[in-house]
Amino acid sequence: MNYFIKAIVSLLKEKTNLQEDEIEKLIEIPPDLKMGDYAFPCYNLSKTLKKPPNIIATELSKTLQATINENLLESPFKKGGLSGITEIKAIGPYLNFFVDKAIFSEMVLKKVSKERDRYGSGNIGLGKPVVIDYSSPNIAKHLAVHHLRSALIGNAIYNVYKTLGYQCVGINHLGDWGTQFGQLIAAYKKWGNENAHESYTVTDLNNLYVKFHQEAEKNPVLEDEAREWFKKLEAGDTEAKEFWQRFKDISLKEFHKIYDMLGIHFDAFIGESFYNTMVEDTIARIKGKGLAKVSEQALIVDLEPYNMPPCLLRKKDDATLYATRDIAAAEYRKKTHDFDKMIYVVGSEQKLHFKQVFKVLELMGDDWANHCVHVDFGLMKFKDGKMSTRKGKVVLLEDLLIDAVERIGKIIEEKNPSLENKDVVANEVGIGAVIFADLCTKRNKDVVFDWDEVLNFEGETGPYVQYTHARLCSILRKYGKPVTTDINYELLSEDEAIILIKNLGRFPSVILKAAELYEPSLICNYLIDVCGNLNRFYNAHRVLSDDEELTKSRILLVDATRQVIKNGINILGMHAPEQM
Ligand code: ARG
Repeated sequence: MNYFIKAIVSLLKEKTNLQEDEIEKLIEIPPDLKMGDYAFPCYNLSKTLKKPPNIIATELSKTLQATINENLLESPFKKGGLSGITEIKAIGPYLNFFVDKAIFSEMVLKKVSKERDRYGSGNIGLGKPVVIDYSSPNIAKHLAVHHLRSALIGNAIYNVYKTLGYQCVGINHLGDWGTQFGQLIAAYKKWGNENAHESYTVTDLNNLYVKFHQEAEKNPVLEDEAREWFKKLEAGDTEAKEFWQRFKDISLKEFHKIYDMLGIHFDAFIGESFYNTMVEDTIARIKGKGLAKVSEQALIVDLEPYNMPPCLLRKKDDATLYATRDIAAAEYRKKTHDFDKMIYVVGSEQKLHFKQVFKVLELMGDDWANHCVHVDFGLMKFKDGKMSTRKGKVVLLEDLLIDAVERIGKIIEEKNPSLENKDVVANEVGIGAVIFADLCTKRNKDVVFDWDEVLNFEGETGPYVQYTHARLCSILRKYGKPVTTDINYELLSEDEAIILIKNLGRFPSVILKAAELYEPSLICNYLIDVCGNLNRFYNAHRVLSDDEELTKSRILLVDATRQVIKNGINILGMHAPEQM
């Protein structure tokens, strides 16, 4: 809570019967500066006081104004007999507060300057572990677009929580178990090239897989062979495990390449296979609680009373399932990390799966089941319909990223041919463009990916935010002197400056909200807003001029804005180049 909100809360607490947090939640920022700096709607008081809200607003404004005039409010800013709050006015059902702009600016800009890279961080998460399960692609298949979305959203949520002091554990729950591995081994034994396996790629594995399904249609015996192989694998057979490990190595090599390009990190790669030895115990306990039953030869948990289809634990051929492993994994993670919260970043199509898993955990008596959250997200679509490359084939993520970097490289070549480290910058901006395009849409909506829009330096894009940051860096380079907070804050009194400073002051609360809603898009929208505020300020007022005092003040504002944009960009998982 900033000082002014605290002051407003304490003023209102004394005169109403509302709780502090209730008041804080109700406080709004009026859309127009002229209406005040903060506003408090009186609707909620109307019920208890039995008066219309606008009458309450008028009455309260008078008593509260008297309080501040008498200087009764404790404040570090005794100025002109007032306490930083200069005026309290009723506007309709709202109580509007005006604050001293210079004091406000001083508070915000000093805080940013002091905290620098830490500005926006908090400590509400101290001592609280949070497990985040993200990306989690499947072995022997290409990293799909939804794994990319999950990686980017998960990484941003990880950074948001870390910024708030939580102890984050990022886990890549690889899909490295299941009957399909039996199919793959069977296919490899038949058609794989033993001598060439070193050079095998995920595409080769994928092809084997496709071939298996084509052949199995003609020759159903293949399915039996595959089942045998998976049984062997589950039983720990050496040969089966060797093949499986080989497929895993091939896939991880490709996944790591993409994660490295994106700058995405995991604390652990623990795939579904890891829980293979635990599922028996999990199933035994589910049975022990009387929750399991046999239906059509499969073992299930009946979830009909909760209006859900049954949760499948074991198929009739004894193979365990995705859900069984997720239940085992959740319990293992609770035991290992004693998390305060566990976040699964997985597409909306798995909503039911997670509802079922959480329900089974609850029925098993795991009282932390409601600390598990499924953070779902929509699809990524491409404007021209499919994900198609220049060659007209289905695009691979790696190609998509390379393409973004190449295109940005061309734009930089045109705009700033003498730029040093052009390749590094093109990389940071190209990848940043993809990250931002993915994150800036509310996560449960589908993202429509349009190259021209995504890469535009002037739209609501990553390159635009990065470019604004680089421009601020360039102003500071031109200034060439140290930035100081020892300035005359009255000089930052233009509307454009005040609007910008107010927005800079909002950054910590944006991070909090992004954590609460698992919504990185809030940070994207915030950054777009700040860049807009900055550009309006910059277009209306010269930063560097002969007036030394004024220049010093505006430079401080430029530096604080640069810092906030950089912190936001970094939390999203992007780089903030200083020149581009
Ligand atoms: N591998 C799964 C898929 O590609 C996603 C796994 C998500 N994480 C989890 N704990 N189930 O659909």
